[in-house]
Amino acid sequence: MSVPYVCVTGGTGYIGCHTVVALLEAGYNVLIIDNLSNSSYEAINRIQKITGKNPAFEKVDVTDLSALNLVFMRYKIDSVIHFAALKAVGESSRLPLEYYRVNVGGSINLLQVMDLHGVENLVYSSSATVYGDATRFENMIPIPEHCPLGPTNPYGRTKRTTEDIFRDYSASKPNFSVALLRYFNPAGAHPSGLMGEDPRGIPNNLLPYLSQVATKRRPYLSVFGNDYNSKDGTPIRDYIHVVDLARAHLVALKSLPKGQCKEWNIGTGRGSTVMDVIAAFSKAVGRDLPYKIEGRRAGDVLDLTADPTLITKELGYKTEKTLEEACIDLWRWQSGNPYGYQTEDGEDITPY
Ligand code: NAD
Ligand code: WQD
Repeated sequence: MSVPYVCVTGGTGYIGCHTVVALLEAGYNVLIIDNLSNSSYEAINRIQKITGKNPAFEKVDVTDLSALNLVFMRYKIDSVIHFAALKAVGESSRLPLEYYRVNVGGSINLLQVMDLHGVENLVYSSSATVYGDATRFENMIPIPEHCPLGPTNPYGRTKRTTEDIFRDYSASKPNFSVALLRYFNPAGAHPSGLMGEDPRGIPNNLLPYLSQVATKRRPYLSVFGNDYNSKDGTPIRDYIHVVDLARAHLVALKSLPKGQCKEWNIGTGRGSTVMDVIAAFSKAVGRDLPYKIEGRRAGDVLDLTADPTLITKELGYKTEKTLEEACIDLWRWQSGNPYGYQTEDGEDITPY
């Protein structure tokens, strides 16, 4: 009997490829589905280098229902981890329809083929962004799963809508099990230095941007506001090492409560300000990094720190790595691969 596959959509992306490594190391058979719109085929070579194992790969777009169906016909799949999505907050305000088409439409397609092929286990990449500004309530920092949702941008609303769709579908199917993992801020890279985040164009997020300041691709970091109500005036986030985050998917997959839909926060429970991050990453690099204080970025909130205790209580999962380790691993990756999986001219190292 052939061993069934765990199908990982978006498996060549930042969080996906770390999760594929964790799955292969744990002995799972892995099939990656990705359209490579925000990732490179080189990620597969790196996965092979780290694990000595080969995931199966299909270049398929999740918005293409018939292509998805063909993949589910060809492979025996018993569970799905669904990462494939568009994730740039600013872009989602400019291209809301595209975000709904890919993030919501792609998720509906996936459910349809899972339904057709009797696949009943799903782990979904949700986001802390579904909470919006939790400081609008009293006593909701750190943020527990029962905090009322209120995403403040189209990207966040695609994540909340997809959660609703999975929840409603699960309620209609007695054996369908789904974990909605609400990630806080993923950070760092694989400790091997072979795998990490590889943003296309100018990075939107703090650590990817700062790491390009460290390699001198960018002159300085703009700090978006120091007039927040925190110890140094900069916003607070819960940075979780991507290897810890990847492990959460394995724990959820192994322990998915049959027939239930569960929401779990995936964070450390520790909040760090932008200035804390600059200090930790500068220490990892070994020198001070240039930054300028500028105005607030529209849509930013003061504090997004997880209450991560529910998944600890229910599944025994706990993060193990610190922000300092994330910074050391990120610098190993960024200094060894200053252009990620691309050449200086922006060409893929390994075209598909
Ligand atoms: P990523 O962009 O690195 O990975 C997403 C992958 O999906 C990419 O490889 C991309 O090529 C693929 N993809 C995009 N559209 C597709 C389509 N139509 N068909 C097939 N593949 C497609 O992003 P990531 O940071 O690894 O995020 C993974 C998931 O986690 C996303 O769902 C994202 O919304 C969610 N998430 C990310 C963060 C974060 O800060 N990185 C935080 C919370 C949640
Ligand atoms: C962190 C802090 C910025 C860049 C985003 C998404 C969220 C989730 C995770 C997907 C903030 C400050 C940043 C810079 C800065 N993604 N900053 N200068 O906004 O907390 O979360 O990624 O689900 O949905 O919104 O992350 O890394 O962009 O910002 O000062 O150049 O760093 O103001 O306080 P964010 P981020």
